[in-house]
Amino acid sequence: MNVLVTGGAGYIGSHACQRLLRSGHTVVALDNLVRGHREPMKLLGADDPSVPLTFVEGSVGDGGLVAGVLDEHAIDTVMHFAALAYVGESVTDPVRYYRENVRAGVALVDACVASPRVERFVFSSSCATYGDPPEGMVPVPETCPQTPTSPYGRTKLMMEHVLKDVAHACGLEGRAFRVAMLRYFNVAGSDRTGVLGEDHTPETHLIPVAIQAALGKRDHVSIFGTDYPTDDGTCVRDYVHVEDLIDAHVCALERVDPGVHAYNVGIGRGYSVREVLESVKRVSGVDIEIREGPRRAGDAVALYADPSRIHAELGWRASITGLDEIVRTAWAWMSANPDGYRGG
Ligand code: UFG
Repeated sequence: MNVLVTGGAGYIGSHACQRLLRSGHTVVALDNLVRGHREPMKLLGADDPSVPLTFVEGSVGDGGLVAGVLDEHAIDTVMHFAALAYVGESVTDPVRYYRENVRAGVALVDACVASPRVERFVFSSSCATYGDPPEGMVPVPETCPQTPTSPYGRTKLMMEHVLKDVAHACGLEGRAFRVAMLRYFNVAGSDRTGVLGEDHTPETHLIPVAIQAALGKRDHVSIFGTDYPTDDGTCVRDYVHVEDLIDAHVCALERVDPGVHAYNVGIGRGYSVREVLESVKRVSGVDIEIREGPRRAGDAVALYADPSRIHAELGWRASITGLDEIVRTAWAWMSANPDGYRGG
């Protein structure tokens, strides 16, 4: 397949490029480098003419640029990762989120529909579209009501609606447009060969924050709330390894039927914040300082997936379900690259 990977220079997008290249696909990565990095593109061989990876710096909202890329590279498949993805930032700067995630996303879909070759579209959606699931709906099935609690979650839900309507209209015209909307839970870890990693500025996610503390780059980790109605009082999340997540995308490319399909991508069990911190201590061998702090606004209490639909329909299941195994991959890259990609 000739695959356009938007956000290809970002954490998850770069792992997708790596996996697609390994499977023999031709890849064009499009990224505006606002949150992504040039280094993973170099590491994957974008400067090497023998590697079928082309890096294009630009925005998915640039319709002319995207149309040119789709045409020039005979793209038949699009994986759309490019987006802003900080829940807190989306609350303070919602217009930026609607502009980058929705307006630019619609421009991308527009260009894809206008290009007759594009047949498959995989969209990075989020468990944030569920908001706080009602009682009895955790583990969360895809049928859970989608009532996001943040602008970020709403931008992802809006794009789901856009894709549903577009896939429906394509069906009316007799065009086979296959859309998979993958609702990610908490993506974590990194490439097991140690080439790619997670490098966000600022870093807010629990596992990399705890690892930064183990590396001495922060003096402590705060637990955001210890009075939740869970076994140990801290929030529970479903941590899915980034390579398993990308495998779910590949399953979607290969197997998804025409029309639009939503799938949860998670391991199907939850770990608490305290369990994650214990795992980082075990893996790093460092007794990181933990401070118990107040709740963070907008956090759901417990959010983990019921991944049975993706297993039944696409045959995907997470291969890594142990926290230590996930944390070990993150630790390996971050301890080898304590300054991230900038450290060379
Ligand atoms: N947490 C801490 N201390 C920290 C960082 C996080 O206690 O320093 C806690 C959070 O309160 C939360 C858990 O660790 O309970 C996980 O937090 P993350 O920030 O790592 O991840 P979130 O669950 O907030 O966010 C993830 C994705 C988002 C997605 C969201 C949906 O990263 O993209 O799930 O709920 F929108």
